[in-house]
Amino acid sequence: MAQTEPRRVEHQLTDKGYVPVYTTAVVEQPWSSYSEVDHAVWRTLFARQQELLVGRASAEFLRQQRAMGMSPDRIPKFDELNPVLRQATGWELIGVEGLLPELTFFEHLANRRFPVTWWIRTPEQLDYLSEPDLFHDLFGHVPLLMNPVFADYMAAYGRGGVKAHAIGPEALVNLTRLYWYTVEFGLIREAGGLRIYGSGIVSSKGESIYCLDSAAPNRIGFDLERIMRTRYRIDTYQKTYFVIDSYEQLMEATRPDFTPIYSKLAALESFPAGSVQPGDHVFNRGTGEGWLEDGDV
Ligand code: PHE
Ligand code: CO
Repeated sequence: MAQTEPRRVEHQLTDKGYVPVYTTAVVEQPWSSYSEVDHAVWRTLFARQQELLVGRASAEFLRQQRAMGMSPDRIPKFDELNPVLRQATGWELIGVEGLLPELTFFEHLANRRFPVTWWIRTPEQLDYLSEPDLFHDLFGHVPLLMNPVFADYMAAYGRGGVKAHAIGPEALVNLTRLYWYTVEFGLIREAGGLRIYGSGIVSSKGESIYCLDSAAPNRIGFDLERIMRTRYRIDTYQKTYFVIDSYEQLMEATRPDFTPIYSKLAALESFPAGSVQPGDHVFNRGTGEGWLEDGDV
């Protein structure tokens, strides 16, 4: 870890449980302060996921990752990635201390700025840490921002977030579930079979295997309202993954105004994370092996 410690301003209940929320300031990536250990952590994680993701990650994720030209050897400089990203889709990366308050986060996305945590995990945290770091944000989220359709989806999500924030906390819960089950934990159906596009999965060694190979979780076709009603896991692998057919499907399904959907869902119960519902397009009905009873959020 570099000399400058992230500044935690408070603990707040977010989509990741109680997590530190940091200052909202945009920080310059303190690239020269990364230690050799920091670079080695990046190199190790990058090589490990790179190998694991062959035949597992969405072909588009892998293609855009190459197009972007992130270095596997050293932590990339945001300033070197930004011209490539700006040219492709008009997005840019900004450095931040960590998770932002929701409205600030939405406003960045709406303006095509993707906040990337500047610091990287320690060697002891290679397999798991409970908050996003540079590896998750950069390796996991940024390649698909090079894809024009996904890039538009993320900006639309930001605008939708600003709107949901004004509507109220229940609308935000619905919208956050959509983000969780698509941007963070989404699967996509491709020619060779199911593939990963969710950042929370591509950046995780264990879950990138589990989500496709394990018989335990449900794998269910994408359905907007179904997803908005479904609770999720923050402390274990997901009990359910939702599968899109294409990035265009995601964009089209989320184009309508969500305001009437929020009103409708406000009167309905939420679904447990591991449930299968009537009308689901079930690719795999999970065996539920290893699931913890409590803890859906
Ligand atoms: N159409 C959504 C709304 O009206 C905005 C949105 C788009 C949300 C894409 C998420 C993803 O709120
Ligand atoms: Co993330």
